[in-house]
Amino acid sequence: MGFFTDRLHAFPRYELYQLGIETGLYPYYRSVESASTPRLTVEGREVINFGSNNYLSLSYHPRVIEAAVNATRRFGSGVTGSRLLNGTLTLHRELEHELADFYEMPSCLVFSTGYVANASAIAGFLSRHDVAIVDKEAHNSLLSGVRLSGATMRRFRHNDVAHLEKVLAGLPAEVGKVTPPPSRSWSSSVTASRTRSSSTTRRTASGSSAGGGGAPSSSTGSSTTSTSSR
Ligand SMILES: Cc1ncc(COP(=O)(O)O)c(C=O)c1O
Repeated sequence: MGFFTDRLHAFPRYELYQLGIETGLYPYYRSVESASTPRLTVEGREVINFGSNNYLSLSYHPRVIEAAVNATRRFGSGVTGSRLLNGTLTLHRELEHELADFYEMPSCLVFSTGYVANASAIAGFLSRHDVAIVDKEAHNSLLSGVRLSGATMRRFRHNDVAHLEKVLAGLPAEVGKVTPPPSRSWSSSVTASRTRSSSTTRRTASGSSAGGGGAPSSSTGSSTTSTSSR
């Protein structure tokens, strides 16, 4: 057996995976052959779609499709560069101004996926001096952001406030405490509290994508809280 086959067979759930493949029930990496509608065609079979984030069905709304076709006619099918250089279109600016206006915020930055939004925002907010206390079931994008930031990560059991308190109590005394965010109906991914400068609370909206097909997300179920001693 080769290197990759060996590694695959060593995977702890390999037998379940094999069973899934043999019975045709393995659900991952299937090819979808239609638009992301409530019923869609997956490898020749019509199935009900329970896995989509397309809550408002915007990805196939006629006006959204028309706007996408018009944008493609004018701008082509890609930006061919990073946003830092030649990849910022007037369309991005327009969308960001509209979103900032909608959320009554001074500005807005749109990312292409929820994953990148979470990872980038958290990596930007936190630094190696911070401690991030993260729900054990938090989305992988949040963990990636914390890892990228270099902050220390502490985990607490899913939705277990008593365990969270215990984790908080176990932090060194000089580490600052959490500043609760102002109550607004935001998609809250991060609360960052810094104690040396004046205490600030920041929030990010994540999940909106430059390509359309999704409303600003409200699905960042578990939160990451950071606290710092600088
Ligand atoms: C809480 C949360 N964060 C991030 C993501 C990643 O979003 P995307 O698939 O747009 O990268 C998801 C995806 O479902 C999510 O549920």
